[in-house]
Parts: sequence; structure tokens; C-alpha cells
Amino acid sequence: MIEVSVVARHSQAQDICSFELARADGAPLPAFEAGAHIDVHLPDGLIRQYSLCNPPWEQQRYLIGVLKDPASRGGSRAMHEQMQVGQKLAISEPRNLFPLAEDAQRSLLFAGGIGITPILCMAERLHQLGADFQLHYCARSSERAAFVERLQASPFAERVQLHFDDGPAAQRLDAAALLAKPAADTHLYVCGPGGFMAHVLSTAKAQGWADERAHREYFAAAPVSHEHDGSFAVQLVSSGQILQIPADKSVAAVLEASGIVIPLSCEQGICGTCLTRVLAGEPEHRDLFLTEAEQAQNDQFTPCCSRAKSPLLVLDL
Ligand code: FES
Repeated sequence: MIEVSVVARHSQAQDICSFELARADGAPLPAFEAGAHIDVHLPDGLIRQYSLCNPPWEQQRYLIGVLKDPASRGGSRAMHEQMQVGQKLAISEPRNLFPLAEDAQRSLLFAGGIGITPILCMAERLHQLGADFQLHYCARSSERAAFVERLQASPFAERVQLHFDDGPAAQRLDAAALLAKPAADTHLYVCGPGGFMAHVLSTAKAQGWADERAHREYFAAAPVSHEHDGSFAVQLVSSGQILQIPADKSVAAVLEASGIVIPLSCEQGICGTCLTRVLAGEPEHRDLFLTEAEQAQNDQFTPCCSRAKSPLLVLDL
């Protein structure tokens, strides 16, 4: 954990604030790569992940952008309401689950709304590398698009195209045209709200983009219906203990109530912090962290949100 202070805070767009974090003594922060995020530990015990959006060669500060989400589970509201300049908070070291393939011939960056944050950092890095790239930034309106001034003042401004839902039809995103005829040495990066990601990624798939060249980062899991959730059991291989998981509780919650602490962060199947090995049984994967191929192996799962298809899962705990 690293102790930092909020050294600057700026409104970047309607409901979006940026927060600049630095060590109180001015010492450098750990280096990070484009696409990396930090865990921010909020005063009331919540932990939230935010992508770093400053140029990745900076070490005196971290910059994050936070959308005040009306459906906030508390994190973005706390950031907007409590994080004033001077506020101290603890953060994790940067972790990168959305790395750039830096040797690609060409990169296409697609950002929707607050999904611009990791994409901005990627654009800075690609420009530094002298790489060929194009950035498409979609927002509901210009008032809701953050960091536009920075993009327009950047040395890669001519590589950026803005698309506003309320703008003229000619400037709207035409994903099918932009993703047509994928070249083998071009990589695609997508970050934004679920509907935006589903649209871009399904278009890419239909146009023949290989999964390993279509990189993605989710901010929040789509709401999941718990209507048909059933109960099942998990067994801890170390002790043989069997725990019943009722329909209305997660595996992580039952484990915690039994004194077995699993590290948790997003609690939505996005970050992979809780990943646990499965030795027998078949999980019902509900995460966005594992790839389809990894999920199909059924040898690990995310107990914060995933459940079981078989009556018993044997866990490597
Ligand atoms: S805590 Fe993030 S995937 Fe489980």
C-alpha cells in the first residue's frame, strides 16, 4: 500500500472529475505501463479500481478520472464528495490487466465515456513509440466527454476522432466500417460502458478479428439476474470441511463468515483478485476476467461472483 494525497482535483466534464495523486514527501511513485490501474482504498473501507491516465513515463504523480455514477455502489460518490485537495488515501501499486502489444504495426483505440482513461494513457505511449494508431472517442455529448482539451492539444491530435451521440450523423461511430478487413498486425483496444463494449466487440468478431487481438477492459459487470441461483457446496481441500452456499450468498461471503479470508477487490468478477483454484467440480463462471478458453478449463474461478453447475466444488484452500 502506498500513502498518497490528492494534490489537485479538476472537473473534466459533466459528472467527471480528475484527481492527481502524489506522495506527501514528493518521492517518486512506482513506474507503470499504459493500461494499468490502481486500487484506491476509500476511507469507509471501499476499494475501487481506477485506470491511470497520465503519460506512463511520469512517476511524480498518478492521474485518475472518476465518473460520478448514478448507480454508484458508493465508490464514485465517495470520490466526488470526499476527495478534496489535501485528502490522504491509500492506493495499491499499479497493476496492468490491459497491456499494449507495443510491437503491433497499428493499433485502434476505442473509448466510450469514462473508458477514455486507460485509452488516453495508451495513446500517449503509442505516440512516444512513434507507432501508428487511431483513437475513436465516443460520448453522449461534448459536455460529457472528459479530457477533450488535452487530446486536442496533444501532439497526436490528428489521430483522434470524436463521436458524440447528439452530434450530426456524419460524425457518429461507424464501427463496422472502421473494423472492416482486420489486418493480422493490427490490435484493437476497447474500454467503456457495457453496451458500447458489446457493440464494438461483437462488430469486431463479426468482421473476423481474432480474440487475442481484441483487447478489452470492463469497468463494471452487467447486472446479473439472481432469480435462478441455486445452492451448492464447496469443500476446502486442506481440511476437508464442506460449506453450503445458499442461493442468496456468494462463495466469498460464506468463506469469510467461516473465517477463511479471500482477498477481494471489485467483487464483480472484473479484477481477478479473488481467483481461486478449483480441483474438482464445475464452476458456473460469471466473471469478465478469465478468457473463454480459461473458463472452459474449469480449474479456477472467482468466488466473489461465480457459482457452480455441479453440486460440489473442491477448492484449493
Ligand atoms: S474480487 Fe475482483 S474478481 Fe473477484
